[in-house]
Amino acid sequence: MHPDGERILLSEADISAKVKEIGEQISRDYEGKELLVIGILKGALIFMGDLVRQINVPVSLDFMAVSSYGTSTESSGAVRILKDLEKSIEGQHVLIVEDIIDTGLTLKYLLENLQARKPASVKVCTLLDKPERRKTQVVADYNGFSIPDEFVVGYGLDYAERYRNIPYIMVLRREVYEVRGGL
Ligand code: IMP
Ligand code: MG
Repeated sequence: MHPDGERILLSEADISAKVKEIGEQISRDYEGKELLVIGILKGALIFMGDLVRQINVPVSLDFMAVSSYGTSTESSGAVRILKDLEKSIEGQHVLIVEDIIDTGLTLKYLLENLQARKPASVKVCTLLDKPERRKTQVVADYNGFSIPDEFVVGYGLDYAERYRNIPYIMVLRREVYEVRGGL
């Protein structure tokens, strides 16, 4: 394991089995339809890449990047769009792909923002969920794993832009973010 990790929470095998299961579920739910998958950069990048290869209905891809104001381990709820979609989503079936739902504030903002653009439908797929931390009522339509309230990195998730390339998900040692002043 990476030396900054306290323990591995989800192995590569855990993740790939779950991604396959979610991809099959999405393929069944959207049978006969086309799907616009919107990845929320940068955290969802790796998950999205693996997920769309397990979906067998026609898919197109777009991306948004948002930044939530706050510290590096906690978001405040105020969200700013750093990169917007390339095209209109009006009349399309949209699936938002997120790495993790924590307080839910980012997702609440995104849902309201995208719903206002008149898509045919909007659903949410998240790899991870920390239900204990929710500050607003949002639920994912597809959820990989509900996890305890611990700060995790890897498989796209970062701390201070690091660790996204680790192929599994690990709990970050507290010393790493406390010493570097993340909180
Ligand atoms: P929310 O608005 O609090 O739901 O924040 C969601 C965003 O916070 C995610 O897209 C992540 O970028 C970040 N985040 C929340 N928890 C973690 C974690 O445990 N590890 C890494 N990033 C996290
Ligand atoms: Mg982040």
